[in-house]
Amino acid sequence: MCGIIGCALKNGSAAPILRKGLMRLEYRGYDSAGVATIHDGKIHLKKDSGKIDEIHARLNLDDLPGSIGIAHTRWATHGAPSQVNAHPHIDCDGLVAVVHNGVIENFLELKEELIDRRHFFRSRTDTEVIAHLIEEGLEAGKSLLESTIAAVKRLKGSYALAIISPREPDKIVFARNESPLIIGLGDGVNFIASDVAAFIEHTRRAIFIDNGEVGYITPSEVRVFKVDSGVEINKRIIELTWTIEEAERSGYPHFTLKEIYEQPQTVREALKAQEKYLDLLTEFLDRGRDVFLLAAGTSHNACIAASYMFSKIARLTTIPVIASEFIENYGRSIGIDSIILAVSQSGETADVLAAVDHARMTAATILAVTNVVGSTLTRVSRAYVLQNSGPEIGVAATKTFTAQLTVLAQLALRLARKRGKLAQYEIDELEEELRKLPELVEKTLAISDKPMRDLAKELANARSIFFLGRGISYATALEARLKVMELSYIPCIAYPAGESKHGPISVIEDGYPVFFIAPSDSTRKHILGNIMEMKARGAKIYCVGTEGDNELRENVDWWLGLPKVHEILSPIIYVIPFQFLAYYLALERGLDPDKPRNLAKSVTVL
Ligand code: M6R
Repeated sequence: MCGIIGCALKNGSAAPILRKGLMRLEYRGYDSAGVATIHDGKIHLKKDSGKIDEIHARLNLDDLPGSIGIAHTRWATHGAPSQVNAHPHIDCDGLVAVVHNGVIENFLELKEELIDRRHFFRSRTDTEVIAHLIEEGLEAGKSLLESTIAAVKRLKGSYALAIISPREPDKIVFARNESPLIIGLGDGVNFIASDVAAFIEHTRRAIFIDNGEVGYITPSEVRVFKVDSGVEINKRIIELTWTIEEAERSGYPHFTLKEIYEQPQTVREALKAQEKYLDLLTEFLDRGRDVFLLAAGTSHNACIAASYMFSKIARLTTIPVIASEFIENYGRSIGIDSIILAVSQSGETADVLAAVDHARMTAATILAVTNVVGSTLTRVSRAYVLQNSGPEIGVAATKTFTAQLTVLAQLALRLARKRGKLAQYEIDELEEELRKLPELVEKTLAISDKPMRDLAKELANARSIFFLGRGISYATALEARLKVMELSYIPCIAYPAGESKHGPISVIEDGYPVFFIAPSDSTRKHILGNIMEMKARGAKIYCVGTEGDNELRENVDWWLGLPKVHEILSPIIYVIPFQFLAYYLALERGLDPDKPRNLAKSVTVL
């Protein structure tokens, strides 16, 4: 996730407006930034790595000349955060400057093709191909809009684009597919941006651009067309009522809720994890004598789910280990044949890095799944895959958990294919389920918000809550417990449902709230027995299961039915109601869900 803004002013200087707008988008990414303007028939450009303020202090972004410009704040997905990889990107001859939010999946083949046609590439980003494709259109005598349409027809993936060219110095061309893009209509000025927060202090009149649309703004004109047909569209103007702070959270009261609702998109982006790195990790995983899944907190819960995925479909035994215990437990038994797959959203968690450092000394191979390019973890690992979730501002991990699982499921599937462990129809089925995931996530959000909000009222004063699941749903139970506990401060317990009778059941008394996570999978046949055991001791049973499972529904006190999903993907869907529960419990208890006490987003101490 990155932030883009373009500003077309009738009179005056665009650069200071762009920089201030960019600051409002910094929550979307902050590893590098840049601004490009047009003046005197030339593109003027400043960009660097670091946060916008730091770059501004070094380069003075405000003194770029011209009344038309585009700007970008980056969250790296292709190419490390650096000056050359920062946006805007330009073509060979300085005919065009482009800013982009999204992921171009077919950039490698386009890049090869363009290099064959003697284009010169400066960066390692996916975005730069767009500048060169548009350059070819301009060189062939097409307009900037026509060149952009021809370019985006070649792209596979997600993009929100803003493009300028000295050939048409009063225009900013834009295009959208799957990444947000909004026009702001001012007086003698028009904007294009990833988010209304970027321009809301100048205007509250907005046009929301939809997928497959392209167009341009000038200081006095806005035109929007369909990419496919070229037909012009009459778009509706919306009057925004948000404050600046609300606009930064896209109208949501908290970042945590915003991030929960971002999951259809972040799962979609995680599905675009780069093939070549997925293949590389698969190669290593296949070769290891022993494979450890190393992580802390929510990422550890993702690893527990992943251990079921790898074993169920790829027949690979993996050992999920809490990072702070790794050295004591396995430090002396690992070696050159060991594979350590470290999973860390931030890539900076001290416990994870300490364990990785130790493992490197034994010549073990370090692999990683992370959200932050340029993080320490990406620098010390042999190969890594990015989860592409954009910054997560809420301290509790929500969208990053589902994105990690989406990446890990793709790895498990690749390994299963490589090892010939699944029949072709099973691979097809799982691929189809992966494709449908964003849609399922969206449905689950719609189904679970209201019931969990209501339930939070009922459970606000609970002294303790129990979470139980069997199989891969044990990982979901652990994550449900962590979310509810860290946001509501209610002490919670999570167990594999089958294990609960070996001790924890003694805490059950009349009315004790016990959640069962019970999708209709291979564990379903045993779960009813576990429910009955708890019920017989007076527990109040809350159950999240599969829609249409009437037997379970009739035997529990509270029921939420979710859409059917492949067993190995179920944590991605079943965690969502508990993210809502945690969030609403915090509100009911008068707590700030974005900043739970005593916690930090990234724990960089041992
Ligand atoms: O950045 P990481 O994934 O390495 O972070 C790991 C944990 O610190 C993190 O998941 C933490 O448990 C969160 N508070 C969970 O919501």
